[in-house]
Amino acid sequence: MTEKKKSRNAVSHNGARVLGHGAYLPKKILTNADLAKKLDTSDEWIMQRTGIKSRHIAADNERTSDMATRAAEEALASAKISAKELDCVIVATTTPDRTFPSVAAQVQAKLGMEQGYGFDVQAVCSGFVYALTVADAMMRVGSDRFTLVVGADTLSRILDWEDRATCVLFGDGAGAILLRAPSEKEEEEKDGVKNGIIASSLHSDGRLMPLLYTDGGVSFNKSAGVIKMQGREVFRHAVVNISDAINKTLEKAEMTAEDIDWFVPHQANARILNAVADRLRLPSEKIVVTIEKHANTSAASVPLAIHEAVADGRVKKGDLLLLEAMGGGLTWGALLMRW
Ligand code: UT7
Repeated sequence: MTEKKKSRNAVSHNGARVLGHGAYLPKKILTNADLAKKLDTSDEWIMQRTGIKSRHIAADNERTSDMATRAAEEALASAKISAKELDCVIVATTTPDRTFPSVAAQVQAKLGMEQGYGFDVQAVCSGFVYALTVADAMMRVGSDRFTLVVGADTLSRILDWEDRATCVLFGDGAGAILLRAPSEKEEEEKDGVKNGIIASSLHSDGRLMPLLYTDGGVSFNKSAGVIKMQGREVFRHAVVNISDAINKTLEKAEMTAEDIDWFVPHQANARILNAVADRLRLPSEKIVVTIEKHANTSAASVPLAIHEAVADGRVKKGDLLLLEAMGGGLTWGALLMRW
């Protein structure tokens, strides 16, 4: 057993516990072959450079709040908790139905909630890791008992479908996790085992905006705009920044990569997640990969991957999960949680 690193920032309390999980993917599937009929691209190029084979695309009348609500309903059902018991809904999204109200408020209404509160977190692809961190912090200090954290994005609405360098990379979807606050008894670490949400490390650097941004915005030009990206530069930053955030998170938790049961990375590019796993010396059997069928679903990518790995029996109660993400802004972060 390797000696655990001692950290000045070490966390000793147990965080919010997972009670349920859910996911939603739109019906329509767009394959690489479909894209190759309209664009100068090929299944071979997309597969080789990214690991993506197909993606789901929302129907014209399907909104981010619709997908978020479907994932939320499934998470509530799996936990056998009714929407009437929820205190808070946090939705990580960059593609809200409208400028306001928040998607979270729409989800509340669609779930039939007459109590509690909801708000959105906007950190692009890192949104779900940010939202889990916010939810956990609020549950540790507040009186909220049940919080629903959703990642949902309809990036197909902000793509330039003539730009082969970006439009082949993204898809739509939603994923959700239901959290409960730990009881006072559970809060203290027992026998050196940390439970629930354990530690996270969040970062952003607005100076890197030119690498990944939309060319529109409400106060910029009254439009949503489309995604602009310097792919190669984003790739370079992703591997370095994500690895750094993971190391900081492990240090806070006083854990090492050997403790991790499952690495559930943001599904942006198979080459990025393999490069990060290599740096951590994590074997490929421990990586949850959904990119082939989902592509990059932004804030939905991590919860969709978690859902798939729990549903097919890979992730079991008590497993230690390492989550990470990086997105426009640039934003990035990592989080450790025990399932
Ligand atoms: O959540 C975070 C979001 N984004 C990311 O994480 C993206 C990070 N970056 C990447 O994943 C990769 O940089 C890409 C997959 C976007 C691109 O792969 P790359 O190996 O970095 O390729 P590149 O951009 O350097 O382009 C290589 C060539 C170029 O042609 P020339 O200039 O060499 O003739 C591109 O024009 O590939 C061309 N190309 C394509 N060819 C066929 C770019 N997109 C395509 C395409 N099909 N879809």
